[in-house]
Amino acid sequence: MWFHVRITEECNLKCTYCYAKNYDRTSAMPFDLFQEIIVKIKSLPKCKKDVCILYLSGGEPLLHSEFENMLAHAYPLFDRIHILSNGLLLEKNLTLIKKHSDKTFVQISVDGDEAVNDQIRGNGTYRKAESALKLLKQNRIKHWISYTVSKQNRECGQNIVNLARNTDSVFNNITPYIGSPDLMLDFNEWEIFKNEISDYAESIDFPMIHSPNACGFNYKCGEYFGGITFNPNGSVTGCARNQEKLYSLGDLPRILIETPKLMNETCMREKWKDVPDFKNMQELRERRFFMKRNGALSLNKLANIPW
Ligand SMILES: C[S@@+](CC[C@H](N)C(=O)[O-])C[C@H]1O[C@@H](n2cnc3c(N)ncnc32)[C@H](O)[C@@H]1O
Ligand code: SF4
Repeated sequence: MWFHVRITEECNLKCTYCYAKNYDRTSAMPFDLFQEIIVKIKSLPKCKKDVCILYLSGGEPLLHSEFENMLAHAYPLFDRIHILSNGLLLEKNLTLIKKHSDKTFVQISVDGDEAVNDQIRGNGTYRKAESALKLLKQNRIKHWISYTVSKQNRECGQNIVNLARNTDSVFNNITPYIGSPDLMLDFNEWEIFKNEISDYAESIDFPMIHSPNACGFNYKCGEYFGGITFNPNGSVTGCARNQEKLYSLGDLPRILIETPKLMNETCMREKWKDVPDFKNMQELRERRFFMKRNGALSLNKLANIPW
């Protein structure tokens, strides 16, 4: 199970599509609240049973003045720690991350080729993210790319695959943009996108694996069931991108019993009305994407990645 802790709203970028762009960008989670959240997470029966993964995110988590203390505090308590970053402050934090690298994975966001990414994320950000990925590769820190796909950047799949190959970014997080209906892909467009990027990865024999449980991949939403999000002010919600329902820390054990929903019952509902029902999902899964097509092959190849 994943626990997504958004330790700050503060950010050094203003990406055009960011779900957090209208939040109070000055708000950061105090260290004692972070500790309290970790205690609550660790007391959950699910966390004792399952692999327990902590995401440190934001805003930009590397901007938090207590980031080092938070990482050190959480490190012994979790099976894995994922740092979700835009990469701008990666070099500055390299020694710290390297010290914890046996359990730490770094995700760097890239949203297109250089021109499209920079239009979305700001001038110069592609080069900075690329440098961060290269540093992670050189230092054998496990890492991957996050590519959030909308109408604006769906043509950039090949570029992302090439960048992933050049930087040994194997498990990548390719998920649909959620927000303005004009920019969101509908269900059929998303299917076409996935097949195209999958065909390309296959054609260059790149072992690109995607989590089968990521948003838009098995057509079930894992919020509350597969994972949960904590905001900088301590409020709790299912998915960071969908803040429709907010709970308090005390509600935690109760809300975790919700079961996964079909995507067309979630924040995707407006655009993904055509998601098939459960009966057809098995068939759909058979046809789909890297984890099926390249999965077995890729797992063997993974042994050769110099992490
Ligand atoms: C909010 S950012 C925080 C971490 C870091 N600042 C970054 O950009 O990676 C976490 C992830 O959320 C994604 N994201 C932001 N807004 C989104 C939206 N409206 N729909 C889907 N994903 C979104 C970003 O692409 C990024 O991969
Ligand atoms: S860097 Fe991350 S948090 Fe900052 S604006 Fe971009 S997506 Fe949002």
